Amino acid sequence: MSDEIGSTLCPVSEETGEDDTKICPIKEEIDKDGRKDKMYGIIIQAIVIYLQETYGEETWEAIRQRAGIEEHSFSLHERYKEDTIVRICDAASRLIGVDRSTIMNSFGDSFVAYVSKYNYDRILKVLGRNLRDFLNGLDNLHEYLRFSYQNIVPPSFFCENEHKMGLHLHYRSSRKGFVHYVIGQIKAVGKTFYDTDIDVKIIKHEESADSSHVIFDLRFQNEGFDTQVNNKIDDKDQFKVPAYFFRNLFPFHIQFKKNMDIVSAGSGLRAIIPNITSKNLLDVFILRKPVFQFNWKNKTRKAKKIMNSAVPIYT
Ligand code: HEM
Repeated sequence: MSDEIGSTLCPVSEETGEDDTKICPIKEEIDKDGRKDKMYGIIIQAIVIYLQETYGEETWEAIRQRAGIEEHSFSLHERYKEDTIVRICDAASRLIGVDRSTIMNSFGDSFVAYVSKYNYDRILKVLGRNLRDFLNGLDNLHEYLRFSYQNIVPPSFFCENEHKMGLHLHYRSSRKGFVHYVIGQIKAVGKTFYDTDIDVKIIKHEESADSSHVIFDLRFQNEGFDTQVNNKIDDKDQFKVPAYFFRNLFPFHIQFKKNMDIVSAGSGLRAIIPNITSKNLLDVFILRKPVFQFNWKNKTRKAKKIMNSAVPIYT
């Protein structure tokens, strides 16, 4: 395990052995003006309410003091010290006598009910037609939240190895200590919005000084996968469109070869980036989400169903 900042998020290419940090701007974002040191109060507030409602005001006050937290209340859009949640969790664990994983799990679980207070549950309800689409939509959700939480440093999720009874979910974060929070939250989402019980196992857990990468094995009735398999045969013939039609329809499309050379781009992109079709995709774009090395193998293996947001680095 390396101690380098973001080393887990930006691994050295397995194929070429080259440092692929240029494809991972999250590292730069974290380093900029200490944003990584703070976190918005929305999750902390949800935790405080959960502790007050479950264990009473007095217990919360004791936890607050034991955790050395100065604030008596937290605001959604204010930012607080990064370690606030971990400190609350540690103090609560000691005072209530419940282990840290269970406490973090409850924090994640209670967040789903809490966000309905602010109508965020409406967004959650429409994030995906089924659970696996929901999970693949989590990065877009957190990006969308940037409108109201400008300096958010969100986690990143993507699904792979799907089958009828589940999938593997990758969770990457610039933070540590949220693994059981994620489990609690995902289980609550399954139950609340999809009436589905999810069995979650951790199959890989890597942490460096400033990042985590966890792979969860999620077991549930994966309806999204079923639908995809059933539609595959029909799709092929039903939705054939001529290439020129497709290209005109999407002014921001990019078509590229296995070596990542761009062969065609929509009129919108051509207007912004001159001679784009003579360039290599990796010289012109940075893949921001999901966080993985952007090469042909990964693109086809991991990103089939994910909406990738790439930002131009062309100047
Ligand atoms: C509408 C609902 C949601 C809202 C409003 C929301 C908002 C946020 C905000 C503001 C942060 C703090 C980031 C920062 O301050 O830099 C955060 C972090 C986080 N969110 Fe969400 N989120 C929502 C749903 C979810 C869901 C469904 C998951 C699923 C697991 C999730 C997983 C996380 C995790 C694990 C973190 C902790 C930080 C980290 O891992 O880096 N969120 N979220």
